[in-house]
Amino acid sequence: MEIFDEYESEVRGYIRSFPTVFDKAMGSELFDEDGKRYIDFFAGAGTLNYGHNPEEAVEAQIQYLKDRRIAHGLDKATVAKKEFLETFIEKILEPRKMTYKLQFTGPTGTNCTEAAMKLARQATGRNNIIAFTNAYHGHTMGALAVTGNEAYRDESYGARGAVSFMPFDGFLGDIDTLYVFERYLEDKGSGMEKPAAVILETVQGEGGINVASSEWLQGLEKLCRKHDILLIVDDIQSGNGRTGEFFSFEKSGIKPDLVCLSKSIGGGNPMALLLINPEVDVWSPGEHTGTFRGNSLAFVAAKVLIDQYWSDDTLSREVHRKTDIIMATLNGLRDEFPGLNCRVKGRGLMVGIETPIDGFADEVSAAAFERMLISETCGADGHVNKLFVALTIEDKILQEGLDIFCEAFREVAKKHS
Ligand SMILES: Cc1ncc(COP(=O)(O)O)c(C=O)c1O
Repeated sequence: MEIFDEYESEVRGYIRSFPTVFDKAMGSELFDEDGKRYIDFFAGAGTLNYGHNPEEAVEAQIQYLKDRRIAHGLDKATVAKKEFLETFIEKILEPRKMTYKLQFTGPTGTNCTEAAMKLARQATGRNNIIAFTNAYHGHTMGALAVTGNEAYRDESYGARGAVSFMPFDGFLGDIDTLYVFERYLEDKGSGMEKPAAVILETVQGEGGINVASSEWLQGLEKLCRKHDILLIVDDIQSGNGRTGEFFSFEKSGIKPDLVCLSKSIGGGNPMALLLINPEVDVWSPGEHTGTFRGNSLAFVAAKVLIDQYWSDDTLSREVHRKTDIIMATLNGLRDEFPGLNCRVKGRGLMVGIETPIDGFADEVSAAAFERMLISETCGADGHVNKLFVALTIEDKILQEGLDIFCEAFREVAKKHS
């Protein structure tokens, strides 16, 4: 690890939680340079929904490169992009009766949320954006402005203007948080500038696995329509099948004006995609640009993976089946240690267990890593152990990982009992 300690910036993060030098990876297994095997319950924070190096996508990319097909195309027309578009429209949009236009932003999730907010501001001529408590939308300045966790919101970074925070579903206990939002919108004395858009995750990932109910999402949509506010769903972490359906908001039936997709869409390759209600697509040519908007290898992988996993509902059913297995295990742990006041949270394979003791979740994650399981924590206080498996994880590896997680949890729980 010396070269990383000596030469890599102090900003390095996950390398500190998982201090080994990784080399190979397949499906839900990682191997370090000494050949030691680790089970992956992290899935690149939602980037590896189809596992590491999914076979068909890898083969297609190798062939694409061997044939010297175009690798970098800015936003020119390429066969790789055309084939991706055809597949995405046929397998994802049309079956869901969605008519979005597609914008390929720079390849990170943050590029996509920034583009969405900029477009919403242009389309409405308004400046303010509503974000929700515990939101996470990325790390550039505009995205930081709509991020909830104070650890990322140091004022010395500069102003975070033109954003108002509202309480997410459940943030105020039993109080209807939409009522609060409505009061702010309707009372001229609230001090809140009329927003261009609201931006939200339907399940907050980094913010602690907080789930918005379908009723709350429907109510939010209604409020947005009533006040002519655009609705942006950031499905960067919760999309691509993570909650069972391709989009996290499908179950609620809401129709966002803008949808941000990234992470798993490119099967592990950098890629981001903004879905735009055609009425909102007010960009003029080249108005929002960037060098890496046409990642051909990501298009190739994305097409193969959509064909493979979204031609029928097999993957969705698998997600729900595996969710039940993980939930049962976490509920068991919660019941085994009632004194810890744990809470099991999540929807689909976006699952976590919250233990309201500072440092507890980090200790569990470290104890799991000692046993060769990779999993992270989340939430503003880091109280949640987040179990993020690949949607394609094999049952045997899932069970092995869960057993390790329980062993690590029990070890830490005993220390705190
Ligand atoms: C919901 C959400 N939005 C945006 C982002 C930012 O994506 P990126 O890290 O690729 O910029 C993330 C990253 O974790 C995310 O979870």
